[in-house]
Amino acid sequence: MSESNLKSMADLASLCKRRGFLFQSSEIYGGVGGCYDYGPLGIELKKNLQNRWWKAMTYRQDVVGIDSSILMNPTVWKASGHVDGFSDPMVDCKECKNRFRADKIDTSKPCPNCGAKDQFTEPRDFNLMFKTQMGPVEDSSSTVYLRPETAQGIFTNFLNVQSSMRMKLPFGIAQVGKAFRNEITPGNFIFRMREFEQMEMQYFVKPGTQVEAFEKWQEDRLQWHLSNGVRKEKLRWHEHKGNELAHYADRAFDIEYEFPQGWDEMEGIHSRTDFDLGRHEEFSGKSQKYVDQADGNKKYVPYVVETSVGLDRCTLAIMCDAYRKEFEGDKEKERVVLKFDPKVAPIKVAVLPLMKKDGLEEKARNLFKDLQQDYMAEFDVAGSIGKRYRRQDEIGTPYCVTIDYETKDDNTVTIRDRDAMTQERVAMDKVADYLKDKLKF
Ligand code: GAP
Repeated sequence: MSESNLKSMADLASLCKRRGFLFQSSEIYGGVGGCYDYGPLGIELKKNLQNRWWKAMTYRQDVVGIDSSILMNPTVWKASGHVDGFSDPMVDCKECKNRFRADKIDTSKPCPNCGAKDQFTEPRDFNLMFKTQMGPVEDSSSTVYLRPETAQGIFTNFLNVQSSMRMKLPFGIAQVGKAFRNEITPGNFIFRMREFEQMEMQYFVKPGTQVEAFEKWQEDRLQWHLSNGVRKEKLRWHEHKGNELAHYADRAFDIEYEFPQGWDEMEGIHSRTDFDLGRHEEFSGKSQKYVDQADGNKKYVPYVVETSVGLDRCTLAIMCDAYRKEFEGDKEKERVVLKFDPKVAPIKVAVLPLMKKDGLEEKARNLFKDLQQDYMAEFDVAGSIGKRYRRQDEIGTPYCVTIDYETKDDNTVTIRDRDAMTQERVAMDKVADYLKDKLKF
């Protein structure tokens, strides 16, 4: 049996639509650029990853969670530097009016859209924040922004959380939530979107201890991606140098994944120094200092190590990594399979009666009801058994339980393993134990 990995994002996008993972937003109206809707299987996969992140981050003594609002006082974004500095350089093609990121194309070459030569405008800075109005009067004083990162809701709550939860340095605050960026060139399916979700954690430390914390979190975050089943050889580190560093960071490493378009950022670990809390202290006029009881009540603004991963990008990497095309001489046996680690697979088990008739469906339904108590399970009775297996392969279901005529005689079923495609005969009343053993995580 030979197999190949995902070759093009278009193949994955087509599977995602066909099988209910992802749809273009407002598709019946021609869609809207850079926005996607998660279907029933996509949201299950995404939630599995989100829950794993939340557990890894907050089921520990030194990190707590919050959920802050998307709309914030606009001064937050002045203080954070986003109003003045959160921009990409853009150029327009004077011929076709398409807009491009100046740092992503070679402007000495013809326009990649219409082929016109020497038609690009000079690069201009384009702020990526979406603006909207708050309240009934539309003037500049009512301008608010859709947050471009979740982090600022953590910074502005630093002292609230520290004092209410009696936290001592070093400690972290984690949150998951939507962020919005008016990206000039969204694309590569859900890789770069205009509305997306981030999972961010700010770890507050005593100045002077940030390097140690940074290295610890680097290791932790890499291990987390590996624990989701991503292949090690598909991950690597990329250090930000010089101009690559964001305005708030003095050190940054990305965890990159090898997507079909090449190596690209999945998560960033940033050393944000005391930049954000210092700026909020300056702009709000409210002290953001921590009183260090362990060091003679010394007062200082903590340093921050941030871990920031895009939930959609992480979901995309998991799907890209799981995608395989398998073939051998026999065309019948060709298949596309998503080899998800069972921990993240949206459906853990499918129950498939061979036939509707002769009481097979009823037996299968009873088993399905039992299994549903513990697992996200699917019941499917439509079409040939071969087609039903192919569907479960394509959505990455690790186990299929088939109820056939032997079941009627001896109350046994077959359990098919997605990856090995082997089938084991198991007593019906032992199926739950079998799955409990295989799916323990
Ligand atoms: N708070 C720091 C911050 O926002 P970032 O590197 O700009 O840092 C962090 O973003 C992560 O958010 C990225 O590594 C990526 O996974 C995700 N992300 C950023 N922009 C995105 C976009 N337009 N679409 C999808 N995910 C995005």
